[in-house]
Amino acid sequence: MALIGVFDSGVGGLSILDEALRQLPEHDYIYLADSINAPYGEKSSDWIASRSMELCQYLAAQGCDAIMVACNTATAEAIAHIRNQLSNIPIIGVEPGIKPAAMQSTNGIVGVLATEATLKSDKFTALLATLPNCQFIKQAGAGLVPLIEAGQANGEETLELLAEHLEPIQDAGADTIVLGCTHYPFLRKAIRKLLGDSINLIDTSDAVVRQLKRKLEAQGKHLDADTCGSIRFISSKDAEMLHQMAQELMQSDLDGHNIESQLVNSFK
Ligand code: DGL
Repeated sequence: MALIGVFDSGVGGLSILDEALRQLPEHDYIYLADSINAPYGEKSSDWIASRSMELCQYLAAQGCDAIMVACNTATAEAIAHIRNQLSNIPIIGVEPGIKPAAMQSTNGIVGVLATEATLKSDKFTALLATLPNCQFIKQAGAGLVPLIEAGQANGEETLELLAEHLEPIQDAGADTIVLGCTHYPFLRKAIRKLLGDSINLIDTSDAVVRQLKRKLEAQGKHLDADTCGSIRFISSKDAEMLHQMAQELMQSDLDGHNIESQLVNSFK
């Protein structure tokens, strides 16, 4: 079995871990939440790149066989450098699902809700340029990540802020919205409350985990088994809180897994 490192600026990557536990429960996981530094999305490119590198080096030093950069912002700013430095292990990133969105949209108008850093990045700009026939309404979700980190994904304040952010997307007539930040799948319920059931919401967790599986198979490290592996929750802020939020936010049943939680102050 493989040891898989998953990291995000906070609890957002739990949406990826959740899917990984659904598809590949037999592996062991380390989930690293850098919550002391969340949100990343409003920080500089250099800061995001160097912090992401530091965290991936830490995960590699723990013996991870693969690392999931479960953060669109870190993927946009740092994945090329991380792959370069850690060339002996697969590094799987996550990008806003604008390709599936363009394919699924019937009117060709798609909203993209992501962090400011993701929307401004060269990687995202290059991705957009590959789909000239679709109209993308880009919207930075400023302020949403801290509310989700505080356990307020369905709170009144979140609904109000979300309504403001969704207005330009709604006004443009989008029939599809890309959840371009791994925190945002935890807003599905709130978005449905505001926009109803007909809006198509896209996140890429399923595709990202399938990619992880392919990489593990290529290395001979994936074997189907009926067992559940372990999960180590590491937080730079509050490990118990992270474990608790994982139980609240994820659909996966954590009971069968051997769980540990740990506060780490320095990743050097
Ligand atoms: N969850 C992250 C992402 O996918 C980062 C959010 C943030 O820290 O701003 O972009």
